Amino acid sequence: MPTVSFWKLTFQLIVMALASAYAHDARADTDLLSTRQQGSFVRYSGCFATINWQSSPTSFNLTVAFSRRPDNGIIPCSAACSTSRHFILWDQQCFCAPSITINTTTGYIPQLSEWEATEGDCWRLCRDEPGVTCGGSARAAFYEHTDPPTVQNPGIEPVQGFHWWGCFADFTPDRVLRRFAGASNDMTPTKCAGMCGAEARWVGVEYGRECFCGATIDNSYKTFGRRCGRVCEGDGRWFCGGEGHLTVYERDGARGDGDPVGGYGYLGW
Ligand SMILES: *[C@@H]1O[C@H](CO)[C@@H](O)[C@H](O)[C@H]1NC(C)=O
Ligand SMILES: *[C@@H]1O[C@H](CO)[C@@H](O)[C@H](O)[C@H]1NC(C)=O
Repeated sequence: MPTVSFWKLTFQLIVMALASAYAHDARADTDLLSTRQQGSFVRYSGCFATINWQSSPTSFNLTVAFSRRPDNGIIPCSAACSTSRHFILWDQQCFCAPSITINTTTGYIPQLSEWEATEGDCWRLCRDEPGVTCGGSARAAFYEHTDPPTVQNPGIEPVQGFHWWGCFADFTPDRVLRRFAGASNDMTPTKCAGMCGAEARWVGVEYGRECFCGATIDNSYKTFGRRCGRVCEGDGRWFCGGEGHLTVYERDGARGDGDPVGGYGYLGW
């Protein structure tokens, strides 16, 4: 079980990462755009454990493209692994994974004997690319080059005054976030936060276009990121939940120490 101080640290790191993401916003946006224009399209495959391969990646046919780049992200790693179908971001390290397959039903990678982890585990956002995850503790973010190029570079939108909290399964009729604020074809997390108003501690977007707000998170657990892999109808650069799944943000500074929230206890397999 994670301790409170672990979460406090995680929270601070996310805030720091978001602050740094804002600082680099304009440059990375331009780069993501030009990456797309060059026809290099990338899909997020999920957050996976590094337990088996971390000490010896080469024996699992993973190539170390670089191991110390503070500006690690989709742009440099995708370029370094341009001939590889998958590539992996893990903090400042980039690995090319030409021979793996991901079973999307089970969330298992047979070549690495690794399982997909819950999305909140990949809390480390890449310094220079807003909303792009660079993995977490013993967790790495896996990406895939897509062909044909149908999927845009995805990411977690930095929302002013909020921090990203993860992907949550949503069960009707007992919604994770109780208040439905509306749906629209220009939905983004930022728009949803505006619709929820000043009193909402949690805001969440679902199915690309629906906005929910709540004072608490109920009836749910954090789950796999690819289930929140639908891009926002209002802006294809960002994730807006999925079918029956919410991309959830929490208002900055809303949490007190030791405050229990649904999802804390369910962090892995
Ligand atoms: C690594 O690649 C070689 C050659 O393609 C293959 O024979 C071997 O089974 C692979 N090893 C792993 C662990 O995937
Ligand atoms: C994924 O795993 C399931 C359950 O083990 C299996 O039945 C299925 O064939 C696998 N899919 C692929 C594409 O390997």
